[in-house]
Amino acid sequence: MTGMTTPAAVIVDAAAYAQAVEDATKASAAYYTGGTSVLDDDAYDRLVRGIAAWEAGHPEEVLPESPTGKVAGGAVDGDVPHTTAMLSLDNVFSPEEFTAWTTSLARRIDRDVTRFSVEPKLDGLAIAARYTRGRLTQLVTRGDGTAGEDVSHAIGTVEGLPTELAEPLTVEVRGEVLMTNAQFEYANTARTAHGGPPFANPRGASAGTLRAKDRPYTVPMTFFGYGLLATPGTGSALTVRLGELAHSDLMTLAGDLGVNTTATTAVPGVTVGTVEEVLTRVKEIAALRAELPFGIDGIVIKADLAADQRTAGSGSRAPRWAIAYKLPAVEKITRLLAVEWNVGRTGIIAPRGVLEPVEIDGATITYATLHNPGDITRRDLRLGDHVMVHRAGDVIPRVEAPVAHLRTGDEQPIVFPEVCPRCGAGIDTSEQRWRCENGRNCHLVAALSYAAGRDQLDIEGLGHTRVVQLVDAGLVKDLAGLFALTREQLLGLERMGETSTDNLLAAIVAAKRQPLSRVLCALGVRGTGRSMSRRIARHFATMDNIRAADADAMRQVEGIGTEKAPSIVAELAELAPLIDELAATGVNMAEPGATPPAPGADGAGGSAEDAEPTGGPLTGMSVVVTGAFPVKSFCSVRAAA
Ligand code: IVH
Repeated sequence: MTGMTTPAAVIVDAAAYAQAVEDATKASAAYYTGGTSVLDDDAYDRLVRGIAAWEAGHPEEVLPESPTGKVAGGAVDGDVPHTTAMLSLDNVFSPEEFTAWTTSLARRIDRDVTRFSVEPKLDGLAIAARYTRGRLTQLVTRGDGTAGEDVSHAIGTVEGLPTELAEPLTVEVRGEVLMTNAQFEYANTARTAHGGPPFANPRGASAGTLRAKDRPYTVPMTFFGYGLLATPGTGSALTVRLGELAHSDLMTLAGDLGVNTTATTAVPGVTVGTVEEVLTRVKEIAALRAELPFGIDGIVIKADLAADQRTAGSGSRAPRWAIAYKLPAVEKITRLLAVEWNVGRTGIIAPRGVLEPVEIDGATITYATLHNPGDITRRDLRLGDHVMVHRAGDVIPRVEAPVAHLRTGDEQPIVFPEVCPRCGAGIDTSEQRWRCENGRNCHLVAALSYAAGRDQLDIEGLGHTRVVQLVDAGLVKDLAGLFALTREQLLGLERMGETSTDNLLAAIVAAKRQPLSRVLCALGVRGTGRSMSRRIARHFATMDNIRAADADAMRQVEGIGTEKAPSIVAELAELAPLIDELAATGVNMAEPGATPPAPGADGAGGSAEDAEPTGGPLTGMSVVVTGAFPVKSFCSVRAAA
């Protein structure tokens, strides 16, 4: 995560330096105006670091347009002067660099900073939102930091920026406008539907959308505030009041006024007292990055107290009291060479992009998901396209979008399959994700290997190769078939001796006693995995209750929303014959220790006391209990007769 910086670009002479400055300026202009640069963030950072290194050795030859001397984003001229300069931030890339920054800050202010605010660095565009007596009157982009462009036409399209504050204050809120992943999807759908080229990534999409005036459609964006200041000249009492507040208090005030801040996100801004605590929070935010519904490119650490900020002051480009701890780039541009169509264990036919290998955050990426056919069409992807590839954490890399302006005209359409590429059956295209009409039976080997896996039935000795043997020999036609295997059948297989046969049979018998959560997981219900299966099993306690649940009842399970619930219910209906077969072979259908939900709570099952114990370990048995018991009473002991 931390401490990994790609090397700076090497600049050997004045001509290379001039070229580098020109390339960086063009890239920066594209970045801030919604175009897509040929340089991704990482390449741009390396170039600027190379420029800075060369300038350090040739201070007399520094070009005025160099990106190092300017506020980032300076390539765009605007005509609305900023009340106070909209500064950029200096960067650090490792714990050591961050610690060195705190040391130099302490030296500068003559004391240790004892309160830092730590918040995500949102990957969008900086804007100033001006409120007059509580009404949102003007939106201005950062521009060159001293003046920006008026984008007030976007008022009303930016979530988190209310048109009216809770108090009639004349203030300026500064922050980042971005598109969440869902807003980005929508933006590209709307744009391509209107014949426009898709945006390559959410930041480009926000920049383009913010500046576009007469679009026949509206694309929502989201605002996160990170600064609040009084408008100079209007009410000096307010100026003084806000000027005295710590950054964290300003953010609380902004929230109280109705403005969105990072407080509402999964990675809210926090204040901490030590460098170690800052670094711990940096790690936490970095770890959550992949799951956030919007992009972040780092963590911003600020001296929280107004007095510390005042003493530290600001340079022409960036404040000295704040720093950006940059996280490794997660996006790179590469080429889409081919598309493969793979059938998964549930019969889903998923397109996967074959890429010109590209390194992202230390890993070489050669494949990236293309989600589904509809997505390919919406993004207007073509073979040979330069594409923006996104990889964060352990999440499967994805192709974000084509870089449309790099097209040469030689790109070819992506051909969709007409029959299942695995078994030749028809394809059900009625849903977003296409599916082989043979469903789970199309790729039985994958379905069975998954079911036997460690997190599911955990059948030792039933690895992929063995499953292939069983399926090829026609011994197993579905999951229930595993439990009907005989000793003779197994002994008849190649490389199956007596010991391995007996061990495998014992493991299969043991698998019948697995808790319901694992049995459910083994079924491979789409949209559920290990932890969701566990939650469902604990909630309903028995398979009968699960099967009796309608979408409303299913929604009562934590993490199952309105969209997922009906599809899980439908999947379970599809799996009904298989579940019946499994139950008939004696596979356990109850979750130990779980009590079914009370009636009326979600429409399924009864209270712990009322419930018929339909699937417990004593189901179907008559039990007689004798002897003396050191308890006062049995409240409700029943055994099904
Ligand atoms: S504070 C005077 N806080 O990152 C301090 N900036 O690369 C100004 N950014 O210009 C910035 N998230 O546009 C601050 N939580 C955050 C931020 C943030 C994103 C942007 C901002 C800034 C740029 C510098």
